[in-house]
Amino acid sequence: MEKPWSGRFTEDTDSFVEEFTESVSFDRELALEDIAQDIAHVKTLEKAGILSKEEAQKIIEGLKEVEREIKEGKFPWKRSLEDVHMNIEARLTEKIGKVGGKLHTGRSRNDQVTTDEKLFLKREIKEILDLLRDLRVKLIKKAEKTVDVIVPAYTHLQRAQPIRFAHYLLAYREMFLKDGGRFLDAYRRLDELPLGSGAVAGVDFPLDRFFTAELLGFNRLTRNSIYATADRDFVAEVLFACALTGAHLSRLAEDLIIWASEEFGFVDLPDKLCTGSSIMPQKKNPDVLELIRGKTGRLYGNLVALLTVLKGLPTAYNRDLQEDKEPLFDSLKTLKGSLIGMAKVIEGMEVNEERTIKCAGGFTLVTDMANYLVQKGVPFREAHHIVGRIVSYLIQKKKTPEEATLEELKDFSPLFEEDIFDILTPSAVADRRKTYGGTARERVLKMIEVAKKEEGIT
Ligand code: ARG
Repeated sequence: MEKPWSGRFTEDTDSFVEEFTESVSFDRELALEDIAQDIAHVKTLEKAGILSKEEAQKIIEGLKEVEREIKEGKFPWKRSLEDVHMNIEARLTEKIGKVGGKLHTGRSRNDQVTTDEKLFLKREIKEILDLLRDLRVKLIKKAEKTVDVIVPAYTHLQRAQPIRFAHYLLAYREMFLKDGGRFLDAYRRLDELPLGSGAVAGVDFPLDRFFTAELLGFNRLTRNSIYATADRDFVAEVLFACALTGAHLSRLAEDLIIWASEEFGFVDLPDKLCTGSSIMPQKKNPDVLELIRGKTGRLYGNLVALLTVLKGLPTAYNRDLQEDKEPLFDSLKTLKGSLIGMAKVIEGMEVNEERTIKCAGGFTLVTDMANYLVQKGVPFREAHHIVGRIVSYLIQKKKTPEEATLEELKDFSPLFEEDIFDILTPSAVADRRKTYGGTARERVLKMIEVAKKEEGIT
């Protein structure tokens, strides 16, 4: 098959090379962006007087036909034509004849491919922002229902202090909000048109790049043609945003997997989101959560893959850059799936509050026993020591702090009075955490209101 660039070659391309270097098997993902770009480019060429009105019209009509073929799945993709760009251009020429060959005037695939990617990412990032928001809304809705559910918070995976389950959920809402911010930030930074940069040095036709940017909805223009064609930082940024969002999803998944175990029994996952075992009839496995956790591996891998491609590349376009696409497409697809899966889990899970409150009491309350003494003037370090001795005594007696008698406590400090037992309940302890950002009921309720307002829900 004749290549668009075959003029200076005397041999056909080795078939291994054709297979090794092709990208059309995956970059056809960019086809619709490529056509949108082609149309804007044709209009720019017409404006510059390089194409006549008739020529421009003919090319645009041809491109629209090609677009239809792609959408209907009837486009004859050819590996021998290497990539999405040359496939579309060749098909156009097949349809409208020689004038199709004018499309690539004043353009290189180097500025073309990065323009496609930026257009594509603007669309994809919007989708991810919507999915992140949907997950945050599900977290907020579940938080509203679990304000009065008390669970132990863990540090070092040891029971630490009682908290409201809603407070836990809102922690993840914060993380997914910051993740959205990172995607939006990447969006704003990549929102500039590279087209018109040519292969590396700019273009020798009087192209009005501002006009092209307006047609394609770019906010700005790249300001340096070398930078424009060399740059894949915007891909790296998106891959990082995917990786970190993956980390958050994975930690949340890990908690829920543990909490759904019989040993914890804190949450119940809906049957429709779990799968069974082919050998053990009693099993209900949290596979969706496990896969969300597992898929984080590729989100990290894709980021590292691209950073490694970029390292040590000579400046401007090198074919290595073609290796940005598969990691990018894979991360976007993976992350979207994980976000949808997690939103379903959050919406469908139930919290077993009898079980969680049982685990939230006991020794998680003793920080407040120490603070009780502090309020009566004992230095914190001394109070900590006194209560440490009480803990050791109670463990020996096989008692919980709530089961201690006042006489027993008075043996350790005469400052204990009957009112110590009022504060020794999990919800009372939680509600004493009244600082801004704390787990007290009134704070959590207020934060739910703030969150709803921020998401624009009622
Ligand atoms: N398929 C290539 C890529 O994805 C397009 C740009 C190729 N440019 C070139 N001069 N070979 O990067």
